[in-house]
Parts: sequence; structure tokens; C-alpha cells
Amino acid sequence: MGLLKLHIGCASKRLDGYINIDSRQTNATDHVCDAAAITFVSAGSVSEIYSRHMLEHLDPNDAMTTLKHWHDLLAPSGILNVVVPDITFHAQQILGLVQSSMGDQTLHAMAGFWGWRDETRGGSKEDAHRWGYTETSLVRLLTELGFTDVQRVLEGVDSEPWHLNLMARRQSSPHVN
Ligand SMILES: C[S@@+](CC[C@H](N)C(=O)[O-])C[C@H]1O[C@@H](n2cnc3c(N)ncnc32)[C@H](O)[C@@H]1O
Repeated sequence: MGLLKLHIGCASKRLDGYINIDSRQTNATDHVCDAAAITFVSAGSVSEIYSRHMLEHLDPNDAMTTLKHWHDLLAPSGILNVVVPDITFHAQQILGLVQSSMGDQTLHAMAGFWGWRDETRGGSKEDAHRWGYTETSLVRLLTELGFTDVQRVLEGVDSEPWHLNLMARRQSSPHVN
């Protein structure tokens, strides 16, 4: 069997070619489990993890545990693509310094900080944000956890400045000191 691709925090968005995972059962889920306990997949057996607007729903310690788990699941050189709100953008947005194309600017900024709380995304409890990331803080966290080649996606899907969209890799071989 070849390497697997995981879509974690899929909500109701199903991606073909990926195992679609969420902590809630939805019409898109292949597996329902916590993002930090994906036990049906062996360590080192995943070529790509894609997670869009999920990490900010975790307390910071849980986010660290989750990212460590994902690092373990990835094969050498495996890709992590993680998208979260860009808190620097939303801070500037609420001050009127930048604008998005998302209608009401105050509402979009508030949603960036605290979550849309939309029923389709899990409602008020499930959709609350528990932490926020700047490019600097998330690049530093991923680097500290052993990811390499951490880069912001500046073109294509979710490259708008309110999406902090980062690509990273697991190291190609064990780190030798
Ligand atoms: C805002 S929705 C994002 C949905 C979709 N990825 C998107 O970009 O529109 C966040 C999703 O993450 C899921 N989620 C939150 N905490 C989770 C966890 N610890 N493990 C797995 N999924 C989680 C929620 O159930 C929800 O479906």
C-alpha cells in the first residue's frame, strides 16, 4: 500500500484522494477521531497532511501535541500544509489598516480572532478559536518541532493575506547532531 494523504478537520468538505478526518461525524468524514490521536495510521506512512482552519481551535498545548503527532505520522520529506487565520492581518483589519473581500470587516476580524461560530462548522462551542498565530509564531513553532522548509503559500488557493497558509516538510533523514 502506498503512502496516505490526510485531510484533518475536514468538517463537511470532502477531498478525494485523502482520508477525511474530523472529531465530529459529518457527511465528509471517513474517520471520526481527535487530530492528536490518529491511531489507525502508522508512524511514517503519510505523504501529506492538509489541515485548513482547524489548528486555531486547539489550546496551544494541544496544538503542539497535535503537530508533534502529525510530524510522527509523516514519512521523511512528507508535506504538511496548514492554514489558520493570520492574526496580524486581522489586527490590522480591525484598525481599518487593511481590508479583505469578506464583506463586513469588523465581523471578519472578530471571526479571525474568535471563530465564525457557524452551525455548519460545529456551532458556537465547536467553532470557537482557542489560540491565534502570526507568521512568525507559527513558523517558529513548526521549526521547533522539527519541520523544515517552512514557507508561506503566496499564490493559488488560500493565498489571500488573511489566510496564514504554510507548507512544511518532515526532514528527509533523521537529524544527526
Ligand atoms: C472551522 S472548521 C474548518 C472546516 C474546513 N476545514 C474549512 O476549511 O472550512 C474546523 C473543524 O475542525 C474540527 N475540529 C476541531 N477540533 C478538532 C480536533 N481536536 N480533532 C479533529 N477535528 C477537530 C471541527 O469539528 C470542525 O469541523
